[in-house]
Amino acid sequence: IRSHMLIDKHFAVSAVDPRMYGSFIEHLGRAVYGGIYEPGHPTADENGFRRDALEAIRALQVPIIRYPGGNFVSGYNWEDGVGPKSERKRKLELAWWTTETNAVGTNEFADWAKLAGSEVMMAVNLGTRGPDAARNLVEYCNHPSGSYYSDLRISHGYREPHRFKTWCLGNEMDGPWQIGAKTAVEYGRIANETGKVMRWVDPTIELVACGSSSRGMPTFAEWEATVLDLAYDQVDYLSLHAYYNNNAGDTANFLASSLDLDQFIGGVASIADYVQAKKRSKKKIMLSLDEWNVWHSIGTSRASERWQIAPPEFEDAYTFEDALAVGCYLITMLKHADRVKMGCLAQLINTIAPIMTETGGSLWLQTTYYPFLHASNYGRGTVLQSVVDSPKYDAKDFTDVPYLESVSVFDEAQGVLTIFAVNRHLEESMALDVDVRSFGDARVLEHIVLESDDLKATNTKTAPNRVVPRTGGESKIDQGRVQAVLGRASWNVIRIA
Ligand code: AHR
Repeated sequence: IRSHMLIDKHFAVSAVDPRMYGSFIEHLGRAVYGGIYEPGHPTADENGFRRDALEAIRALQVPIIRYPGGNFVSGYNWEDGVGPKSERKRKLELAWWTTETNAVGTNEFADWAKLAGSEVMMAVNLGTRGPDAARNLVEYCNHPSGSYYSDLRISHGYREPHRFKTWCLGNEMDGPWQIGAKTAVEYGRIANETGKVMRWVDPTIELVACGSSSRGMPTFAEWEATVLDLAYDQVDYLSLHAYYNNNAGDTANFLASSLDLDQFIGGVASIADYVQAKKRSKKKIMLSLDEWNVWHSIGTSRASERWQIAPPEFEDAYTFEDALAVGCYLITMLKHADRVKMGCLAQLINTIAPIMTETGGSLWLQTTYYPFLHASNYGRGTVLQSVVDSPKYDAKDFTDVPYLESVSVFDEAQGVLTIFAVNRHLEESMALDVDVRSFGDARVLEHIVLESDDLKATNTKTAPNRVVPRTGGESKIDQGRVQAVLGRASWNVIRIA
């Protein structure tokens, strides 16, 4: 099959907000305990942070990490996680029915995030708590000194405030599974009032309101409209959560699921704009896709035995086709870079994650690590408006699915144009012709490829390199036209300068 693209360096969609490549670490499964934190591990530093995990995370260049949940935050008392470790309480954790030791809390996570080169996207508990606990947490984290909570932080060894900028007003408050779930009106009101006092403590913060837990929620759309109606002036972002899988065993349909994400993002942007129009507001609400991923084990319940400490949970083994899907989602997010300012791959380590560790043992990288690595490392700059002509197919839930899923990003500072492209065709390679004449006399720097004969191939502890990228993909440039071959079912990164 053949496809064509036209890219013009003068036609921009939007600058990419680096926070597009954020991620998420929740007190869930072995993400914190056994993931980033494991005192006694051979690679642990003096604070118990695994250096092998830090190294794998740093390579991803994750600018922001959401914390501490997720569902966990809706039952969390932040005070339990600060102060002398010997005095921290063990608590029954009701989101995942585990025992939370509180060995890691806000300050430890802030320390760790600094090492990882990431900002923290803090979430406040709007399940069991409300404005009071939230404003105290902002005071504890962000106020310099001279008040009870800021001085408490200083007494805990943190003279400088953390200055967390981005704050989530609760998590998935529309979900019946959520501790303290709410109706849209209940949530819109509490989000507004909580946001108000948080901003009074620190006017520099940015606030994210909960959108629907998924596009499939029965209250989707109505929820967004009502919440924004009630909290528009207080919030800067509206959240979206999207998880997909191929549990139905239909790869063509699964790889088309980025069209669902595309419609989801477009729909939420329209709802936000509807409320803006209704309010005659000058402010545009931006979107935070602060949970997204492939999730095979979604909907399976919590650990069978209650109240364990950090039991392994949702440790999905990602296949090669999952990596293709993740690539398609990243491309889709980039195509919406004018509205999607933050994204969080959910999650980062062990729990539905690109990075896996063995407690006490080694670390390996899942298939999905690689498209995220490439997008985060090379997808910085400006998304360009590309015109794409690709043959299409029909799948079970989608019609007119282009075999070519692609986007281009121009890094003006480096003078490098990067084309991300997935060939969704499962049998045929694709001859891709890209008109890049507006870039003048350019050459192909590299063409990175992720492919496998086996769509179900995974990387494991004992075989960590089954699916790894290679350079040397087939691309040449002739008179301002890139001629590339994209193997069947492949992820491609073509860099031109
Ligand atoms: O990321 C795992 C869980 O998925 C989060 O805790 C919750 O917000 C979502 O349902």
